[in-house]
Amino acid sequence: MPDLTTKARVDLEDLAIHEGAPVLLRRALAEVAEGGFLEVRGSSPGLADDLAVWCRKEGHSYERGTLACSHRIQHGASIPTLATSAAVSQVAEPGWGLAPRGALIETGGPEFSFTLRTKREVWAQELDSIYRQAANNQWSARRDIPWDHLPKLPLEIEAAVCQLMTFLTENEIAALYVPARFISRIHPHYREVVETLAMQVVDEARHAEAFTRRAEAGGMGLGTTAVTGQLSLRTLLEEADFTIAIFLLCVMGEGTFLTLLKFLEENAPDPVTALLAQFAHRDEARHVAFGIAHLRYVLHREPNRRGSLGAAVERRSRMLATVSGLSPYVYDALVILAGGGASPAQIRTGARRVAGLHREMDHARRARLQGLGFDAEDAIALSAAHTKNFM
Ligand SMILES: [Fe+2]
Ligand SMILES: [Fe+2]
Repeated sequence: MPDLTTKARVDLEDLAIHEGAPVLLRRALAEVAEGGFLEVRGSSPGLADDLAVWCRKEGHSYERGTLACSHRIQHGASIPTLATSAAVSQVAEPGWGLAPRGALIETGGPEFSFTLRTKREVWAQELDSIYRQAANNQWSARRDIPWDHLPKLPLEIEAAVCQLMTFLTENEIAALYVPARFISRIHPHYREVVETLAMQVVDEARHAEAFTRRAEAGGMGLGTTAVTGQLSLRTLLEEADFTIAIFLLCVMGEGTFLTLLKFLEENAPDPVTALLAQFAHRDEARHVAFGIAHLRYVLHREPNRRGSLGAAVERRSRMLATVSGLSPYVYDALVILAGGGASPAQIRTGARRVAGLHREMDHARRARLQGLGFDAEDAIALSAAHTKNFM
C-alpha cells in the first residue's frame, strides 16, 4: 500500500496559476503516489478557485486547507505511459507513432499507418557512419563551384555537356523521388533509415540544381529528354517494394552512375563540369554504400530474396524490351565529349572510349552483384539485363 498521509509540500508564495504555478505543482505531484496528498501553500489572489479548476482539468481532487493560504491536492489517476526500449526492435507498433525511440509514451494515442514497420524490411548496418559522412560532406552548388572559371567552349562540346546535364538532371529527379516515396511509409522507430534517406533526397535535389545550372551557365541551356530515358526511369519510380527499389536504384542504377560520373570527371572539358562530377560522385558513393548495406542486411536473413531481386531486373528488362538502348542524344554527347570534338578522328576516339565506359560499368555491376552473393553466372546475366539507360 502506498503511503497516503500528507507529507509532500509545495510553497507557491504569491505565484498564480496563470503565472506558471502548475510547473511547481506538477513537479511536486510527481513525488506523490496516486491517492496521496500534496499540501500547497500560496497567497496569490483567487488561488483556491484557480486550483480547484486546475485540479479538475488535470484529474486531481482539490480541498481547501484548514489554515489561511493552505490547500490540499489529492493525486488522481495518472495517464499510463509505456516505456519503449532505446534499442531497435524487430517490430515497431503503430501506437508508438512519432515518439522518439526510448521515450515514454502516453497510452491511448492515435495509431499511425506506417507500412514498413519491421526491422528486417528496412534496416542496414553502418547507418550511423553513412549519415555522419553525409552530414559532413554537404556542399553548395552556389557557393562551392567556381562558376566564374567556366570557359567559352567550342559549340559542339558545350552542346554535348548541356545534353549530358539534361540526362543527369532527369536521373537525379528520379533518384530523389524513389527514397522520398518510401520515407513517409517507414516507421519513425527506424529513424536512422529515415534520416539517411532524407540526406539522400537532399543530395539529389542539389545534384539536379547543380547540373541544370551548368547547362544554363554556358548560355546554351538544357538539351532534350528522350522517351527511352523516361520509360526506363518510370519503371524505377513505380517499384512498390522497398528492398527491390533500393536494389534497382542504389545498387544497379547509382552503382552504374558512379562509373559514369568518374568518366565525366576525366573527360570534362572545363573545371566546373569536372568538379560537379567529382562532388556528385562522392555523394553517389554513399547512396551506393547504403544500398549495399541494406541488401547485405536483408540477404543475410533471407537469402532467397536474391531470386526476387533478379526477377525484378529481368521484369524491368522485359518492360523495356521495345526500348532499343541508350538514347542517341546521350550516346552522341558522350562520344563527342570523350573524343574532344566532332571530327571523324575524334569520333573514332570518343566511340572507343564510350565502349570502354560500357565495359567498365558492366564489370563494376558484376562485382557488386557477386559481393552480394550472386554467383558469377547470375551476375553476368543480371548486369546484361540492366537498363541501357544506366539508371
Ligand atoms: Fe545524384
Ligand atoms: Fe544518388
